[in-house]
Amino acid sequence: MGVVVAMDGPSGAGKSSTSRAIAVRAGWNYLDTGALYRAVTWLALEKNLESAQDIILALKRDPIRFVSNPLDPQVFAGDTQITHAIRGSSVTENVSRISAMPEIRHELFDIQRSIIDRSEKGIVVEGRDIATVVAPDAALKIFLTADLDARAQRREIETLDKDVDVRSSLDSRDIADSTREASPFVMAADSVQIDSTLLSIEETIERIWELLRQRSLLGLPIVAILGRPNVGKSTLINRFIGRREAIVEDTPGVTRDRIQYECEWGGRRFIVMDTGGWEAKPDGISIQVSAGAEIAMDEADVLAFVVDAQVGALDEDEILVQRLRKAKKPLILIGNKVDGDREESEAHGLWSLGLGEPHFVSALHGRGSGDLLDRIVAELPEVGGAQTQDGYRKVALIGRPNVGKSSLLNALAGEKRSIVDEVAGTTRDPVDELIEFGGSTWRFIDTAGLKKRANQASGTDYYASLRTQSALERCEVAVVVLDASEPITEQDLRVITMVEEAGKAMVIVMNKWDLVDEDRRDQLDREVDRHLDQVEWAQRVNVAAKTGWHRDRLAPAIRTALDSWERRVPTAKLNSFLGALIGATPPPVRGGKQPKIYYATQAGIAPPKFVVFSSGWIEASYRRFIERRLREEFGFPGTPVQVAIRVKERD
Ligand code: DC
Repeated sequence: MGVVVAMDGPSGAGKSSTSRAIAVRAGWNYLDTGALYRAVTWLALEKNLESAQDIILALKRDPIRFVSNPLDPQVFAGDTQITHAIRGSSVTENVSRISAMPEIRHELFDIQRSIIDRSEKGIVVEGRDIATVVAPDAALKIFLTADLDARAQRREIETLDKDVDVRSSLDSRDIADSTREASPFVMAADSVQIDSTLLSIEETIERIWELLRQRSLLGLPIVAILGRPNVGKSTLINRFIGRREAIVEDTPGVTRDRIQYECEWGGRRFIVMDTGGWEAKPDGISIQVSAGAEIAMDEADVLAFVVDAQVGALDEDEILVQRLRKAKKPLILIGNKVDGDREESEAHGLWSLGLGEPHFVSALHGRGSGDLLDRIVAELPEVGGAQTQDGYRKVALIGRPNVGKSSLLNALAGEKRSIVDEVAGTTRDPVDELIEFGGSTWRFIDTAGLKKRANQASGTDYYASLRTQSALERCEVAVVVLDASEPITEQDLRVITMVEEAGKAMVIVMNKWDLVDEDRRDQLDREVDRHLDQVEWAQRVNVAAKTGWHRDRLAPAIRTALDSWERRVPTAKLNSFLGALIGATPPPVRGGKQPKIYYATQAGIAPPKFVVFSSGWIEASYRRFIERRLREEFGFPGTPVQVAIRVKERD
């Protein structure tokens, strides 16, 4: 089974067109569950059946089939194609009644599950109870809404039968569907709500695509690093991933497993696959491409061939070069060990390999590596082959020692925890755990780091902070644990600043609340006012991990924070807000000139980033003022918000 995206919401909100477009773009399947309910209704009307038993019997004779191709979805009852027939008004009038029958829902549940389970890369499933009942563990849940008027207008355009009152039909259907006994139509707690009233279909699709990409559900593209031993593949990979300790020695003649590392450059994440070298046959003359390199070439989206530019390509490279010439994948030729201009001019011989323009780098000293990464990122496809993500939200539990992080983890998890490995291939020991609480499964990053170490040696502080840093890099939301019974320390504040700087969502847990008395509470209020002023936006949850008190408050706080973290404000709304803001309080005059503010756009999510375009330099205090008012207007509890000013020359 691939990635499952659940698309719930009332009729006419644009579920179908959006779901289909997403599925087409990602190369996934598509399931319209409303069509299944309509098909059953069609069958009941056709055969004049009233009771659920009779309808189910008829279903055995004429099973419902759905062709899950998003370009041309089709519905059959037995051998009869009813794709269009199910859109007629008699089906529409009766579908709520039929879909309220528990036996019918049960029957269709199995059909829906089997279509979902059979999907290979991914599937977008549209309906009203997908996120809550049919696929509660979907990787992304969208709840698409729109005002009733907007929905009625969209449906009217689609409806064939012009005398029906679309608005009241929609409205009464919504009421019937929401109030029925069997799976009433409600929004799941972990759904992302998108109100499409003000959005075009393209904007709605873009918004969902952004979420899929942000959560790595499109699969990360894979870049295979190929080349003989000793050409500097490992050093190059170290350059790419920006850390040193993850690499193992590249031993000639030893075929290692393909090892994968996650990289990020220019906001794009991708996988770098280290392939090992290849071995000489016993006679030492003809050379065979290793099995590892073969598989890597099949799996990868981009091939990078590394040659030692000081040596050039050897005869041994020939078989691989032939293979690469024929590969129908983007190919990047890398001449390594080029430390200066002189070496570069000597290295131009690599053109003769017929693999296109060589890119010269010094993996060791970094020369040219930024340009090379730009080039690699430019070749990455939108949808990659690596399915590394499971869609569970990634939480880092951090804080200075002894604040009760592991007790909190235990209080949250109870028995419901299972260990999962970290990103494949690293030689360090971080371990993630899947933990279930508050109605969702969460991925807790590097829980091994929470264990108390005996005999902590000097220097551990440094390693602890390194570990926190890497957990922060991988997480989406940080739960920062403080000991409420003791004064807030420098170290606590440092952890909080790290979260802010990493741009992650944050929830602050005030742990050991059972030890907080009246006096301490007053003191704490003062400390919070003084020290946590700058992260006023972070929600604080008071918890006593030891007794479990308030542990149920954490899941809602985390969800709110993630929701803010991924929120996008529609451009029209943003600019009407900004217009009013500048009208009331224009930016301060500087050097006799009043800078003009043209417009703003939300450049990204996770965290929300806004760019304001102006004619001149804007003071930092005014930028902070914009940020504060943005928060007041749109509310971003639990997430940092970045506001940048770009000075734009008049054109
Ligand atoms: O989305 P639609 O209008 O084609 O859906 C037709 C009806 O089917 C709708 O009134 C509610 C019902 N339905 C349901 O109960 N559960 C689903 N998963 C999908 C649709």
